[in-house]
Amino acid sequence: MMRLDKFLSEASPYSRRESEKLIRRGAVTVNGETVSKPDAKVSETDEVRINRRLIVYRKYIYLMLNKPQGYLSATEDKRDPVVTDLVPEDLRHFNVFPVGRLDKDTEGLLLLTNDGNFDHALMSPKKQVTKRYFAILDKPAEPADAGLFAAGMDLGDFTTKPGKLEISQDDPTHVFVEISEGKFHQVKRMCEKVGKTVLFLKRTAIGALPLDKSLKPGECRELTAEELILLQNN
Ligand code: URA
Repeated sequence: MMRLDKFLSEASPYSRRESEKLIRRGAVTVNGETVSKPDAKVSETDEVRINRRLIVYRKYIYLMLNKPQGYLSATEDKRDPVVTDLVPEDLRHFNVFPVGRLDKDTEGLLLLTNDGNFDHALMSPKKQVTKRYFAILDKPAEPADAGLFAAGMDLGDFTTKPGKLEISQDDPTHVFVEISEGKFHQVKRMCEKVGKTVLFLKRTAIGALPLDKSLKPGECRELTAEELILLQNN
């Protein structure tokens, strides 16, 4: 059980103070009855409405973002725009943060959540969730490069786990890379190690979850229940 004003401030876009005002004004019903006391106790399963609109209680949200270039994988920065600037207004109060990070100039699938356990489950090195990327290189990749990716690479400060490099049949400067770690600049550094510079990088999947192709860069949406299950089964 929790106070009605707290329930609303967590589950709706309204702040605690705004929720209190709405309650006092008689705009809030609980199981069909108007409740005008902000400290009235409600539970997560009560049917709470503001001006007849149903407010479903949720503590956590999970978003899929198609990250555009130019945004930092952070929640605030003095100079650059950050990925949480792209969260729709009505979901801002959930205070999501990025799950792992993509470089400022990398595009594609980035998950955002306010659930620390989810973040840990996906990012923990023990889990080794595969991340898939599409990259455009400055020179054609060669079949021998795939062998070097598969063997694991010594990058000086660490040796990578085996990765996967697939070369596009149509254009050998277009490659698909899979890695199960997420070290800083890892894809770019692995490509550099085989003598190619990454000109464009986009993450296309995390584990069994592909980026929704209908999301334009900068757009995000909540994960469906099925997608969450896909990620949990990684
Ligand atoms: N590897 C990189 O080099 N950059 C990214 O943003 C992600 C993986």
